[in-house]
Amino acid sequence: MKYNSQKVAYWFFALSMLLFGIQITYGFIMGFAHMGFDVLHGWIPFNTARAVHTNCLVMWLLSGFMGAAYFIIPDECERELINPKLAYVQLISFAIVGVIALIGFHFNWWEGRKFLEIPRPLDYLVVINVLIFIYLIGGTIWKAKRYTTTSIVLFFGLLMAALLYLPGMLNTVSQTVDSFWRWWVVHLWVEGVWELIMGAILSYLLIKLTGVDREIAEKWLYVIVGFTFLSGILGTGHHYYYIGTPKYWLIIGGVFSALEPLAFLGMAIYAVKVKNLGERNHPNKMALAWSIGCAILSFVGAGFLGFAHTLPQVNLYTHGTLVTAMHGHLAFWGAYAMIVIALITYALPQLTGRKLHDSKLGVFAFWSANIGMIMMTIAFGIAGVAQVYLERKLGLEFLSVQSEIEVHFLGLVLAALVFSSGCIAFIWNFVKHGMPRDTQIGSKVYE
Ligand code: HEM
Ligand code: HEM
Ligand SMILES: [Fe+2]
Repeated sequence: MKYNSQKVAYWFFALSMLLFGIQITYGFIMGFAHMGFDVLHGWIPFNTARAVHTNCLVMWLLSGFMGAAYFIIPDECERELINPKLAYVQLISFAIVGVIALIGFHFNWWEGRKFLEIPRPLDYLVVINVLIFIYLIGGTIWKAKRYTTTSIVLFFGLLMAALLYLPGMLNTVSQTVDSFWRWWVVHLWVEGVWELIMGAILSYLLIKLTGVDREIAEKWLYVIVGFTFLSGILGTGHHYYYIGTPKYWLIIGGVFSALEPLAFLGMAIYAVKVKNLGERNHPNKMALAWSIGCAILSFVGAGFLGFAHTLPQVNLYTHGTLVTAMHGHLAFWGAYAMIVIALITYALPQLTGRKLHDSKLGVFAFWSANIGMIMMTIAFGIAGVAQVYLERKLGLEFLSVQSEIEVHFLGLVLAALVFSSGCIAFIWNFVKHGMPRDTQIGSKVYE
């Protein structure tokens, strides 16, 4: 690492790994509950487990993005963060708000709106926290010695993500209006501004790992930003088909969301092309594997599996079923989990001075987690298609269908075992790296 203040990134990554572990644990609780073994129901009912699972996901990804920004921005801007101490304050307050929210879910303190369950008073604290973060990153870029497209796109993505949290806090009177605004957060995050964050981190990693010309890498970034906005903004309509909004959304949502896979396809082509163009043989092979894997699996999970249920004619049947969970898992994993893991893999040797990324454990983590996640996606897909057929075609009642498909969750839990052994290997490898070391400051090794 070049700068002392980059060290704060390590602690965001550590928080990220902790929340990731909790997320997986609650995934198992739900997997077993779906199989009919809901023994924890008295303490952790399904709704609590689900809220913890998805909120931990969002929190560990955000913590990963923040860590990524604290690592990348000083490097790109060629200066220290404007106020490193404040970054630690922001880290601790972020962790405290997260922990309070997670505990609160266990006592039924939640808003009951999928992905935005965090209770209102805590939302205000989130806003303050994110303002501090944006101030630190924005301020550092403002005083930068160098402006790069990568850092500007990263900042713009983070700023827009912060602003788009606000529509989720509007007070509404009806379920439809509430849903309308909820999608401004959920959809415009994952199919809009988070894509910019992902594209920027990917561009940074590819420049470093493949040695490709910055100009070439950054030109692609513009193309991706263009595709994302062109399709993603009006693509929000694919959530407005059947929630009580006007009919014109059927056509707008259908047409524009069908174009959304292009941005992900662009990123996959871009990553593979840049990998072939670059002449650098970087020692951190696993960071490159996670980066290219991210570009490819995000296309499969978000682009391909998203397209599979985005047309209104299909969505009429699949809406809100396990087909959605199938897509949700591979999309989140491929796009956002993998980009965070790729950056952590790249940054850790620099922060700690230990070269453990290409160890057997690191290689096992990569294959086991990815193969396991693909297996999980298939298991969700089979359960989902069976559910759609029984519930929406044959008209069986929701709960009877749930017991009919219990058997498919055995497949899910087995796949999840493969997946989580890879994740545990990754987290264990993270721990084995130890903490950041001051002797690394200014060192160019592993860069
Ligand atoms: C990395 C990007 C993406 C992520 C992380 C993601 C994740 C998700 C998640 C978690 C849901 C469930 C949301 C909820 O019900 O609250 C969802 C729904 C949906 N996604 Fe994606 N998605 C991504 C990209 C896409 C793309 C590119 C498309 C279309 C081509 C798409 C199409 C859909 C559709 C149609 C639904 C609604 C499903 C329903 O009606 O139940 N997604 N997505
Ligand atoms: C041990 C691993 C995991 C297991 C067993 C698991 C299981 C589950 C289950 C059973 C659900 C609830 C489906 C329902 O509502 O009926 C769920 C929801 C969800 N999980 Fe996981 N999960 C795991 C890991 C992950 C990971 C690593 C991610 C993201 C990278 C993820 C993302 C999600 C999302 C986005 C939802 C909400 C989907 C929707 O809205 O339809 N899960 N998970
Ligand atoms: Fe969407």
